[in-house]
Amino acid sequence: MKNMFSFVGKGGVGKTTSAAALATKLSKRGKVLIISLDPAHNLGDVLSSELSEEPKEVAPNLWAAEPDIDNVIRNFTKDIAEEIKIHYKYLKVLNLDKLISVLELSPGVEEQALLEELVKFMKMDFDYLVVDHAPTGIAVRVLSLPSIMLMWLDSLINLRKEIVKRKEALAKLRGLKEEIEDPVLKILKEEKGKMEETDKIIKNPLSHSIYIVLNPEELPVLEGIRIKEMLGRAQLPFKAVVVNKYVEDEEATRWYKKILEAFAGVKVFRIPKFKKPPKGLDELNNVAEYIEVV
Ligand SMILES: Nc1ncnc2c1ncn2[C@@H]1O[C@H](COP(=O)(O)OP(=O)(O)O)[C@@H](O)[C@H]1O
Ligand SMILES: [Mg+2]
Repeated sequence: MKNMFSFVGKGGVGKTTSAAALATKLSKRGKVLIISLDPAHNLGDVLSSELSEEPKEVAPNLWAAEPDIDNVIRNFTKDIAEEIKIHYKYLKVLNLDKLISVLELSPGVEEQALLEELVKFMKMDFDYLVVDHAPTGIAVRVLSLPSIMLMWLDSLINLRKEIVKRKEALAKLRGLKEEIEDPVLKILKEEKGKMEETDKIIKNPLSHSIYIVLNPEELPVLEGIRIKEMLGRAQLPFKAVVVNKYVEDEEATRWYKKILEAFAGVKVFRIPKFKKPPKGLDELNNVAEYIEVV
């Protein structure tokens, strides 16, 4: 994958429509995969094509996938629960089903599962990956998760190194070989390597562009400004704003002016509100006229 494009914003503003429009535009330059990470899917609807978790070619050079997010989370927690079960074999009372349902409801699990799913698609052989994200908060947390995980992994690695040092000192006292090849440290370092790779792509403005989608109305604009601040704090490459469903009236004009002020320094694209919701490739090509690849 050469480049990734993320679309974030409040539910209903037009993330899926703008993401699909950009994907059709990109498909003239190379092989594109568009995925939806929003549990409230409508990518298949917008593309007028039935989608599944496996990428499907919907037009020349344009592939799309719509993973079942509940299923992704369930499989993710099942894998963790099984891992725990292996490591705590002696705990006969450990109930796997119960463990899975507790994990499913644990904070951060949805973000981790979504990140793992995203990485799976990032590794696939496409030139461009377009991501139609879950509504705001969760999308920003998914994208900043690699950085947070790296901080955690560093602390864990240091902690483990201390333990290994003590083990080595004890071994030395008993006249045994001094250097220990620690399996836990090995796993932690491997995880760190993988996470660094992902973090590098997500944070690099040369490989990733984030578009905030909003409407020229009070709440979506305020939400957009909030996302911009969150992305800034997480050092994520925010590149453009899509003002969708624009109409030429006084209120929209006023909000549009506010948007230009609040988002000075990034590209602002404006898509009109069409008489009927844009669906299918021809109409998406038309929407794509209003936005650019940044
Ligand atoms: N520019 C537009 N003009 C008219 N309808 C639009 C436009 N953009 C999106 N819509 C419609 O608005 C609804 C929400 O858009 P969607 O792209 O699904 O938003 P999101 O993915 O952010 O929830 C959909 O029914 C969509 O077809
Ligand atoms: Mg959507």
